[in-house]
Amino acid sequence: MRAWYLSESPGQYSIGEVTDPLPGPDEVRIAVRASALNHMDLWLTTGMPKPPRFPHVPGNDVAGVVESLGEGVTTWSLGDEVVVNTALVPDAALSRGVNSVLDPGMRLLGEHCWGGHGEFCVVPAHQLCAKPPERSWAEVASYPVCTTTAWRLFRRADLQAGESVLVTGIGGGVATAAFSLAQHLGCEVYVTSRDESKRQRAIELGAAGAFDSSGPYPVTVDVVVDSIGPAVWDNAFRTLRHGGRMLVCGGTSGPKVELNLPRLFFKQLDVIGASCGSQVEFEHVSGLVADGLPVIVDEVIPLAEYPRALDRLREARQLGKIVLEHPSS
Ligand SMILES: NC(=O)c1ccc[n+]([C@@H]2O[C@H](COP(=O)([O-])OP(=O)(O)OC[C@H]3O[C@@H](n4cnc5c(N)ncnc54)[C@H](OP(=O)(O)O)[C@@H]3O)[C@@H](O)[C@H]2O)c1
Repeated sequence: MRAWYLSESPGQYSIGEVTDPLPGPDEVRIAVRASALNHMDLWLTTGMPKPPRFPHVPGNDVAGVVESLGEGVTTWSLGDEVVVNTALVPDAALSRGVNSVLDPGMRLLGEHCWGGHGEFCVVPAHQLCAKPPERSWAEVASYPVCTTTAWRLFRRADLQAGESVLVTGIGGGVATAAFSLAQHLGCEVYVTSRDESKRQRAIELGAAGAFDSSGPYPVTVDVVVDSIGPAVWDNAFRTLRHGGRMLVCGGTSGPKVELNLPRLFFKQLDVIGASCGSQVEFEHVSGLVADGLPVIVDEVIPLAEYPRALDRLREARQLGKIVLEHPSS
């Protein structure tokens, strides 16, 4: 098939022919219609993480049409329009429900195995949800990783309607997903960004306040959602009220932060981490998307122009998800 791939890491993506991926037992092959970028697309070029083998096809977020079925698949039919849960788990792990994603056999589509920035993508049949028919291919390719991660964090934090939430770095994919979801759940949502026009856009989208990410943030909140790490940690942590929750799903500015222990225990704070989500959570989120949860798409770019999409992400010019539109022949 034709795909974007890495031959080494650190390294840069090329486009060309790679071995056709074929579905094994209980797997399906999807003709990809849309795949979205994540910061992972950039991490993979730096060697952090390094893909397990080369060539490697990136792309964590995948939506498309079932094109062929492996032996034993009865739950899907050729031509079904589907969206893929990025956190791939062994069949036996599914019985663990929301904890299935903690299985040591969990693999991330596009990181530990080939992802969606090519013609076809092969995944276990139990990883799919039907595409909500009213939503565009770009919208459905935008929600799997980010909205499922945000939902897992909110579920674990027991987020309640009426609570206040601060989302850092609103330009990011996972940040915009958390923003939309928190609003949808009835929360008052504040944001940060380095970019004045993004702060303004967030206000237009209903943010209760928008602050420069360099801080300080003149607000006290119940919950913070952060994917940036050290560049904002101290300011973000200070905004939490007593009993607040710090939700962490990334460290774009670095892997380590300084934790102020008296602030943690005197204020009785919780720090909660999450990486992607289980099939149960993905199905819940797919239901919310079917019911109209807003999904913020920044730009739809032809698959052939992946390098331009990567530049946009690297330079943080986006607000929301950058999506690659695949040829539909
Ligand atoms: N755990 C998971 O399941 C999961 C899921 C998705 C993503 N992630 C992780 O979460 C992070 C974000 O991913 P993404 O795909 O949403 O990234 P992204 O779309 O590239 O967005 C990153 C945003 O973070 C802000 N930012 C980056 N560097 C910054 C710095 N030095 N100082 C202040 N703000 C900074 C910027 O916001 P502004 O432009 O508004 O300033 C930027 O737009 C990554 O580390 C990724 O690996 C984890």
